[in-house]
Amino acid sequence: MTGRTVLIAGGAGYIGSHAAKSLRAAGHNPVVFDNLSTGHEHAVRWGPLVRGDIRDPHAVRSALREHRPDLVMHFAARIEVGEGERAPAEFYDNNVAGSLNLIRVMMEEGVRSLVFSSTCAIYGDPERLPLTEEMPKRPVSVYGRTKLMVEQMLEDIAHAEDFRFAALRYFNASGADPEGEIGEEHEPETHLIPNALKAAVGLGGAMRLFGNDYPTPDGTNVRDFVHVSDLADAHSLAADHLVQGGGNLQLNLGVGKGVTVLDVLRAVERAIGRPVPFEIAPRRAGDAVSLYADTTRVSSALAWRPHRSDLDTIVGSAWRFHRKSWGL
Ligand SMILES: NC(=O)c1ccc[n+]([C@@H]2O[C@H](COP(=O)([O-])OP(=O)(O)OC[C@H]3O[C@@H](n4cnc5c(N)ncnc54)[C@H](O)[C@@H]3O)[C@@H](O)[C@H]2O)c1
Repeated sequence: MTGRTVLIAGGAGYIGSHAAKSLRAAGHNPVVFDNLSTGHEHAVRWGPLVRGDIRDPHAVRSALREHRPDLVMHFAARIEVGEGERAPAEFYDNNVAGSLNLIRVMMEEGVRSLVFSSTCAIYGDPERLPLTEEMPKRPVSVYGRTKLMVEQMLEDIAHAEDFRFAALRYFNASGADPEGEIGEEHEPETHLIPNALKAAVGLGGAMRLFGNDYPTPDGTNVRDFVHVSDLADAHSLAADHLVQGGGNLQLNLGVGKGVTVLDVLRAVERAIGRPVPFEIAPRRAGDAVSLYADTTRVSSALAWRPHRSDLDTIVGSAWRFHRKSWGL
C-alpha cells in the first residue's frame, strides 16, 4: 500500500530520520514533528518539518489537523541513560507525559494507530537468554522505566478504546543509511560504534570500556546490534500491519546474535585499518551483562528479516557516514 501519510514524532533524530527516508522510498508521505532538542534540521529531507513538542497539545493537534496522517510513528524521547538518572523528572515529563499527551490528542483527532519506539532496557538484567517478550520487565534505569510505563499505558488504552499500537523493543540501533546521507549524530554520543570510530581516527581520547571481567567470552558486555535501516523496514511492516487492521504488537527487534564490545572494536579496526585505542574502566552501574533478542515473534508477526545487520556491514556504513560528516 503506498501513498500513506505518516506523522513521525522525533523524525529529525537518528532512527526517525531513517524511517522517514525508508517511507519516502516506499512511496509514502512522511511528515516530521520534532522540537529539535536533540534532532537535526538537516536530517529532515523526505517530507516537511513541523517544529513542535509532543507535550504541547495545541502543536500536536494542529499538526494532525493539517496533515491528517493515517498513523503516527513515535520516536520522540530523551534517550541518554545517564541523563535520566540525573534528571528523572525531565525524563518522565518528556517520555511519559509527552507520550500520553500525543496519544490523547491522536484519539481526539481520530488517529488510532501508533508505532512506538520501545527498548530492550525495559527488561533490566535478564535471568535467561535470548530474551523473549514474556520475560520479566525489571528496568534498572529511569530511561527504561519511562519506556515500560508508556507500553503499559498503551496496553491499557488499547484495551479500553479504539486504538492500536505496535511497540518495537529495539536492541542496539547502529550503522547508517547505506547512501551515507544520514547517520548517528547524538550529542553527547554515548554509543559504542561512533565513539570507537572517533577514538580510532584521533577525534576523541582512548575509548573507555566499562568492565572486562564479565562472565562473557572475552570479559566485555554482549549486545545485539541491529542496523538502523533494518529497524526502519520493521517500522514500515508494523505500519502495514496496523493500517490493515492487525492487532497490537509488542516485539523484540534485534538480530538474535550477541557480540562483545571487543568484537565491535575489532570490526572497527577492520573497517578503517587502524587500531582503536582503549582503556578499561570500572563496570558501570545498571549495565546488563548480556542482552540479545529471541527474534521468533518479530519474524512470524511481521515476516521481518534483517538484511544489513552483520557487524561488518553495520560498521562499514557508520564509517562511510562519519568519514563524510567529520570531513576526513
Ligand atoms: N538509539 C538506540 O540504540 C535506541 C535503542 C532503543 C530504543 N531507542 C528509542 O528510539 C527512539 C529514537 O532514538 P534515537 O537514537 O533516534 O534518538 P535521537 O535523540 O536521535 O532522536 C529523538 C528525536 O526526538 C526529538 N524529541 C525529543 N523529545 C521531543 C519532544 N518532547 N517533542 C518533540 N520531539 C522530541 C529529538 O529532537 C530527536 O529528533 C527513542 O525513543 C529511543 O528511546 C533507541
